[in-house]
Amino acid sequence: MESPVGALLSSTRPRDSKKARFRREMDKGLCRDTNPTAAVKMLPTFVRSTPDGTEQGEFLALDLGGTNFRVLLVKVKASGKQEVEMEDQIYAIPEHLMKGSGSELFDHIADCLANFMEKLGIKDKKLPLGFTFSFPCQQTKLDESVLLSWTKGFKSSGVEGKDVVSLLKKAIKKRGDLDIDILAVINDTVGTMMTCGYDDHLCEIGLIVGTGTNACYMEQMRNLEVLDGDEGRMCVNTEWGAFGDDGALEDLRTEIDREIDAGSLNPGKQLFEKMISGMYMGELVRLILVRMTKEKLLFNGKTTAELLTTGSFNTSYIYAIENDKLVCVYSYTEGTFERITSFLKASEVSQCMKDEESLASTEKVLRGLGLDPSADDCIATQRVCQIVSTRAAHLCAATLVAVLRQIRDNKAAEKLRTTIGVDGSVYKNHPQFSRRLHKMVRRLVPDCDVRFLQSQCGSGKGAAMVTAVAYRVAAQHAE
Ligand code: GLC
Repeated sequence: MESPVGALLSSTRPRDSKKARFRREMDKGLCRDTNPTAAVKMLPTFVRSTPDGTEQGEFLALDLGGTNFRVLLVKVKASGKQEVEMEDQIYAIPEHLMKGSGSELFDHIADCLANFMEKLGIKDKKLPLGFTFSFPCQQTKLDESVLLSWTKGFKSSGVEGKDVVSLLKKAIKKRGDLDIDILAVINDTVGTMMTCGYDDHLCEIGLIVGTGTNACYMEQMRNLEVLDGDEGRMCVNTEWGAFGDDGALEDLRTEIDREIDAGSLNPGKQLFEKMISGMYMGELVRLILVRMTKEKLLFNGKTTAELLTTGSFNTSYIYAIENDKLVCVYSYTEGTFERITSFLKASEVSQCMKDEESLASTEKVLRGLGLDPSADDCIATQRVCQIVSTRAAHLCAATLVAVLRQIRDNKAAEKLRTTIGVDGSVYKNHPQFSRRLHKMVRRLVPDCDVRFLQSQCGSGKGAAMVTAVAYRVAAQHAE
């Protein structure tokens, strides 16, 4: 059977078998005629230049849509030596606001901003602000961004179809005590690319593998048919999390993937994201463990109330479990969860068992779920985690490679030298994810010299960078 990576890279249609499946999806999104029905939206961001190091000034930034909501003050110094100073504060977004009324959500954001400015004693300053809003948005300019649909854990009413800058301005105005100039709205992938672009001018891709997954890259304007103009480049937010929403991934999706989707806030949407990102990875593992237990392959066939509870297997448990010394050498070839049960028969499991001591974290996690695991149960659980997270890394590698090939073809370069800025909790915290991703990318595009650069202060700083670049470019035009 073909592996998911192989299947993604080779087309299902024999006639264009050399063309990658995700490349075809990208083309659909880029072309004017097919864009309206494309699953992968390829959204223009109106970010045309990456930082050149001469940017300067003091900027506010908001970062909504990842694990945390953050408010930042970023000072960019054009001292020749690129220097950025930052103050930031994390604020909670209570669950009822994520799924409640949109105006209350934006009031809360404005309150957090006011609180932050008060604390820093800058409430009376008029500062430019960049807003990292990490959801699919249709932009018509840098400071106008209409939410197409909520993704991840958000579902606030009255925001879809609205310009989020207007909503934020309204909430700030309602308070009456702040004077803020909202200059830019960006996606977190764009923020990551810009932050990394400040340190490495060859950075032209931004990748997030966190609560959600997505990537952006610098595309030639001539390929971006949905906009007029052929000159230069613009950053495109691929919104690859929606890959498969039109059925393009049905041969790779398993029963477990369908189960996750059915129980989610947005059934039928973000199907690729649901196979990969941190919001779903732990739940994928839990559903497999439940199924294996019911098939009497684990825990003597005894489930517990905790194991049966949706969301009880946090994605961070996978990080801990895979940190335990590997007891089995596992090679990823099957790719379907249906197969897992067959190759985790107890006898096979005990053959790979070498060192029970090294499974301490795995045992602790399982005991925390009220289970009484044997050594075999721990090994099998670890293997399930490896399969799920390796599949995620390899799927990400496949789509990333399609983006790399697009850039290489655009430049007609024989050997592409490029940098990918990366951020996100899965990429940063999973002990093996980044290594597996890098390895697969290098294997698939041996002719590209790719550097992965982990973003240092996250996507929020990038909003300040975009605002800073917009300032610099505006100043240059005024000259
Ligand atoms: C989701 C959002 C996307 C974001 C990604 C990573 O896929 O739709 O805009 O970039 O999560 O946070």
